Formats: sequence, structure tokens, C-alpha cells
Amino acid sequence: MTHQAGQAFDRLTATLEAHGPVVMPALLLCDFGHLAREVERLETAGAAALHLDVMDGQFVPQLSYGRVVVEAVRKASRVPIETHLMVAEPERVIEEYARLGSDIVTVHIEALEEPRRALAAITGAGCRALLAICPHTPVERLEPYLDACDGVLVMSVEPGFGGQQFNPVALEKLTWLAAARSRLNASFRLGVDGGISTETISSAAAAGAELIVAGSAVICSTDYARAIVELESLARAAA
Ligand code: DX5
Ligand code: ZN
Repeated sequence: MTHQAGQAFDRLTATLEAHGPVVMPALLLCDFGHLAREVERLETAGAAALHLDVMDGQFVPQLSYGRVVVEAVRKASRVPIETHLMVAEPERVIEEYARLGSDIVTVHIEALEEPRRALAAITGAGCRALLAICPHTPVERLEPYLDACDGVLVMSVEPGFGGQQFNPVALEKLTWLAAARSRLNASFRLGVDGGISTETISSAAAAGAELIVAGSAVICSTDYARAIVELESLARAAA
């Protein structure tokens, strides 16, 4: 789609510049029997963007969903969509997920032989590019690519499942990345994904997280709007 992916991302960054960190709900644990209704509930609840976890059973042990669901969410939603590719050889599918209407495509440094080429493919397809990093991967590995991405997604759990515990090693990575951004006079955004809750979001925001993915903390709550407002308020107070 010659969608306005870049514009959607710019709106997102304008929101976080004006108000502070934004919460992006992850749909992984939602009620897929009523997908369109879940998407609508999340939008009405004030979700700044939606985070879609694509898992292939190879890069991570688990299979989640792929193009059919991304396409359905795109049709049902107006907010920006971030597609988090937890797949082996993500370069094979970047264009496809861009075409399906992703505004942001996120790829793992651990899955890439040539990160710069993958990031260029994402931006070449009209999307914004995030580079994700797993808890066990040294953050310094990102340095050569920080000028080529729109943001970094720091994983605070091992990718693969929703509902895991936040790993504080992510805080060290966020702090290092925030310092690197100043040192390099760069403008990439900082995201965090995994184990975000009312207990953990403040430390993530204080360490620099701006695009904050929250799965179970939103989806397993009874009131999506209240969960998002509470998480964003905590993040904004701590940022
Ligand atoms: C983990 C996924 C996360 C997950 C977040 O593999 O990348 O996006 O859905 O879920 P919570 O917030 O429950 O850890
Ligand atoms: Zn994710």
C-alpha cells in the first residue's frame, strides 16, 4: 500500500514529544475470536498504536500469527501498526508486511546478517524501521546501525511469549542507548517490550523508554482505557 506509514510514525513521535511516553498494546493475548472488536476496544481506549507479534516457530519456539491477522487488524484499525517480526530471515518478508499496511516494521539484530540492508528495505518500502534486541545480546552490537533506524526496541523478556517477567537488563540497555543518542547526536526513538506493568513501567520510562509495548497489562485487565491511562501516567511522571 502506498500508505502514509511515515506520517503515522511522525504523529506518534509528535504525541510523545508533546505528552511523554506512549503505550502500544500488544494483541498477542487478546480474544482472536473477536479480533475486530478487540482492535476497536483498544482504539477507543486510547491506544497510541498497536503492536503485532509475528512469530514463526523458528526464530522463537512459538508460532503466533502472520499476514492474515496483520491484514485483518489493518482493515479494522486507524491507529499506527507496528509489526514485530520474530522470524528467521526477516528480509524475506519485510516487503510483504509493509504492503499489508504496517507503519513500523521491527526486525531483530539477532536474525540479520546485514542489518543495514534490512533497515533500508523497511524504509524503502515506506515504513519506519525499529531494530529489536534480545536480553542476552550486548547492546554495543547496535552501535553501527543507530544512524540507519528510526528506533530501537529493547526486549525486556526473551521473545516468544506474553505474560513473562520484566528483565531489568533492559534498563541498562536503555540507559546506554540514551547516552549513545546524545553522544552521536542521533534521533532514534527508544522502545521497550515485555513484562511491562504498573510495577515496571516507571523504571523503563526513567531509563528512556518512549514507545512502550504492553501486552498482558492491558489485555488481561477488565478496563482497557483505565489500564492504558494508568500506565501512561506512570510513565510520563517518571520520564
Ligand atoms: C514477546 C512479545 C511481546 C509480548 C508482550 O515475545 O514480543 O510483545 O506480547 O507481552 P507482555 O507485555 O505480556 O510481556
Ligand atoms: Zn513484541
